[in-house]
Amino acid sequence: MSLKILGAGKAHPSFSLSNSILSGMVDTSDQWISTRTGIRRRFINTTETLLDICMAAATAAMEISGVKPRDLDLIICPTIQGDNIIPALSCEIQRELGASCPAFDINAACTGFVYALDVAKSYFDAGRANYMLIVAADQMSKFINWQDRETCVLFGDGAGAVVLAKGSNLKAIKITAKGDSSLLAIPGSTGNSPFWQGGSPPSYLHMKGKEVFKFAVNSMCRDITDVLEEVGMDIGDVAKVIPHQANIRIIQSAAEKLGLRDDQLVTGVDRYGNTSSASIPILLGELLESGELKEGDIVVLSAFGGGLTSGACIMEI
Ligand SMILES: CC(C)(COP(=O)(O)OP(=O)(O)OC[C@H]1O[C@@H](n2cnc3c(N)ncnc32)[C@H](O)[C@@H]1OP(=O)(O)O)[C@@H](O)C(=O)NCCC(=O)NCCS
Repeated sequence: MSLKILGAGKAHPSFSLSNSILSGMVDTSDQWISTRTGIRRRFINTTETLLDICMAAATAAMEISGVKPRDLDLIICPTIQGDNIIPALSCEIQRELGASCPAFDINAACTGFVYALDVAKSYFDAGRANYMLIVAADQMSKFINWQDRETCVLFGDGAGAVVLAKGSNLKAIKITAKGDSSLLAIPGSTGNSPFWQGGSPPSYLHMKGKEVFKFAVNSMCRDITDVLEEVGMDIGDVAKVIPHQANIRIIQSAAEKLGLRDDQLVTGVDRYGNTSSASIPILLGELLESGELKEGDIVVLSAFGGGLTSGACIMEI
């Protein structure tokens, strides 16, 4: 059975942080950032909450789909963390939309959107839902050490949403996890307990860039090959590949190994940076809005990130 997309929406904060502004904050340059990562700017929350941009994305997706909030059977939010620890971001979206269905967040870092599609498929397959909303959103600017030039140039904030219905358009999906905190991690706050004696590492993102790079390229190639094999398709049958947007060199390296043509490859890292779980649905929303993706087109989504997690799927539009 699986699922189909009825509508998609995307949103980002209003403040655009250019490479040249960053060059005045840390020892970096537009030249270094754009050639080593492909990023030219990213959007950063200043006055908006994450919920604000989620609602902009979700409202757009709901309007296009024609589905009413009361008809939703589940809301899933792939996010590292919403504005609050409690309530979950998904519950806040449910309240703001005026829906009454169950809602929960999942944390699979940058792979969150593919993980959420996998969960959604299971709900549809089990006959537990007719309509679902996924809102993938992250505010990476909260977790960055803004004095660390190796990481602060990479990330942005954003949200992407899809409304799903029962259908047969998700042809294959794969998700993976390989528990590892040595390559990519954001330590949690140790909180307020007067009894805790274990120290308090700063709650900043830290990363071994080169090793994450290799993990990313290898995961993308393996996962995309696996899902194509599962359905007996060739990469040439695919209209568009929408990869997670972390670094243009990761995307190009995987594309070369997979034998992708330039016109198949979707990129937005130049405009958004790495928006974590929102990366893929933001670009999916753009392509559907512009009409570049049409009914019947085959799309591959491929993501990797903290966890370490990865995943890919094949979907017919
Ligand atoms: C982080 C990343 C951009 C670094 O690029 P790189 O080509 O591996 O660069 P290196 O780490 O080898 O650094 C090269 C040099 O640039 C310097 N450098 C690092 N960041 C810099 C910056 N923002 N501006 C200027 N110089 C910088 C380094 O200090 C190093 O200097 P040195 O040669 O004097 O020691 C790249 O490894 C990457 O994208 N990794 C994957 C990250 C990722 O995807 N994370 C999220 C996963 S969801």
